Amino acid sequence: MNAENTVSQQPLLYARLAEDLQSLITAGNLRPGERLPSVRRLASERHLSISTVLQALRQLEDRGLIEARPQSGYFVRPTPTRRAQPDARTTPEEPVPVDVSQRVMRVLQSGRQPGVAPLTYAHSAPELLPLATLQRLYGSVVRRHPRLLETGTHIQEHNPALIRQLVRRTVGWSGPLTANELVITNSCTEALALCVRAVTRPGDTVAVESPAYYLMLQLLETAGLKALEIPTDPRSGLSIEALDLATRDGRVTACLLVPNASNPLGSMMPDENKRRLAKLTAERGVAVIEDDIFGDLYFGEERPWPIKAFDKTGNVMLCASYSKCLSPALGIGFVAAGRYRAQVALQKTITSGPTNAVTQQVLAEYLESGAYDRHMRTLRRHHQRQVEAMRAAVARYFPAATRMTVPQGGLVLWVELPAEIDTSALYDQAIAAGVAYVPGELFSASGMYRNCLRLNCGNPFTPAIDDAVRRLGALIGQYAPSRDGTS
Ligand SMILES: Cc1ncc(COP(=O)(O)O)c(C=O)c1O
Repeated sequence: MNAENTVSQQPLLYARLAEDLQSLITAGNLRPGERLPSVRRLASERHLSISTVLQALRQLEDRGLIEARPQSGYFVRPTPTRRAQPDARTTPEEPVPVDVSQRVMRVLQSGRQPGVAPLTYAHSAPELLPLATLQRLYGSVVRRHPRLLETGTHIQEHNPALIRQLVRRTVGWSGPLTANELVITNSCTEALALCVRAVTRPGDTVAVESPAYYLMLQLLETAGLKALEIPTDPRSGLSIEALDLATRDGRVTACLLVPNASNPLGSMMPDENKRRLAKLTAERGVAVIEDDIFGDLYFGEERPWPIKAFDKTGNVMLCASYSKCLSPALGIGFVAAGRYRAQVALQKTITSGPTNAVTQQVLAEYLESGAYDRHMRTLRRHHQRQVEAMRAAVARYFPAATRMTVPQGGLVLWVELPAEIDTSALYDQAIAAGVAYVPGELFSASGMYRNCLRLNCGNPFTPAIDDAVRRLGALIGQYAPSRDGTS
């Protein structure tokens, strides 16, 4: 290699080493406080000059990832992730009509542009999903059960093996699911929409979390319903006291919520609150539509129970799907609809007809084989690490007054910025800088949370994502009152 070549390749070599080391740090393989391999060792193992290695280390120092300690070498810097969590906010006392859909669609579209870092959609990256196994299983199921391609009537014909698997997974609950209350759907979205239509009429009021997953608000909007936002704590979820007050006068028809790892807060409702909510709503005739899509993506020791587990009267409709944990392309979910099962099944028949019979068999066999439980053990670990890496990056790059949640499951992070920042107003600039997010106001029917945003953590935390968060932090920093970046 001639001298010119060596010179022209230097930037690439140091940048690549910096990127590899950064990946090890952000993935948690090199932990805060841990010593990096020595300069000499890195140089010899990577066949690089000492000065190239030093250049890479300087770059990591500049990014705040490592620090040099005299006579000792280079160490991973402790990450300042200990930021305060946002507080639950006071919400309007009156229900309001919803009008978020157009803005949500615009954000979701622009977040998918090539070259924009994927921080919008709350999805697991494909490389974390068991796609090869599912691909083989589809082939094998179609070969072994060719008649499945012939079936599919609009009268619900559910796969008994799948129903058995869904029921079996709940046998430990105090109130397990029963086979005859289940309706298999094409997604969790479909399950939620069927339930909303089954128990409400246009003009009714539905209680929702605040902030609420924007899809919930879109469902209310398109069904002509009003939203009553209930204060929601980032740790323990929807306030039972506030729901109690809001449902005293009989004006609330239904309650729509995500008690396990809520979207966007990642909050986890304690069992005692779930028990109280089930009792209170049953007594007051408020139907509960519960979204448990993140129930299997918990970060704690045990799978949290849903509110449905405490339901003694069939008043709770439990909705979920396998979009987050297996693949959104499978198009399979379910609702355990309790005493609303007949209305929900009718809605299903008249809106989307049958659910793919091949996929039902694939899912039944995948669950039965034990592969799902093994896969979930790994996926939970990945997501927990990714959320932690995202928190560390936000702490590193966002203004000092930033607060953020400590998600107890799921794959999103909710960030509260200084009050002066308007994340909707900044959105186009962020897209121009190659970063997408979901502006906070889309999680509220009454336009709250303009200084908040949601980040998707479903992707492995690569240097490219770290850099996208850095660019977003720099953009926000231009508008924040203090830009010193310290915590
Ligand atoms: C809380 C919640 N419910 C439902 C969905 C949609 O699930 P599906 O893709 O099965 O319709 C999402 C997707 O982001 C979600 O976050």
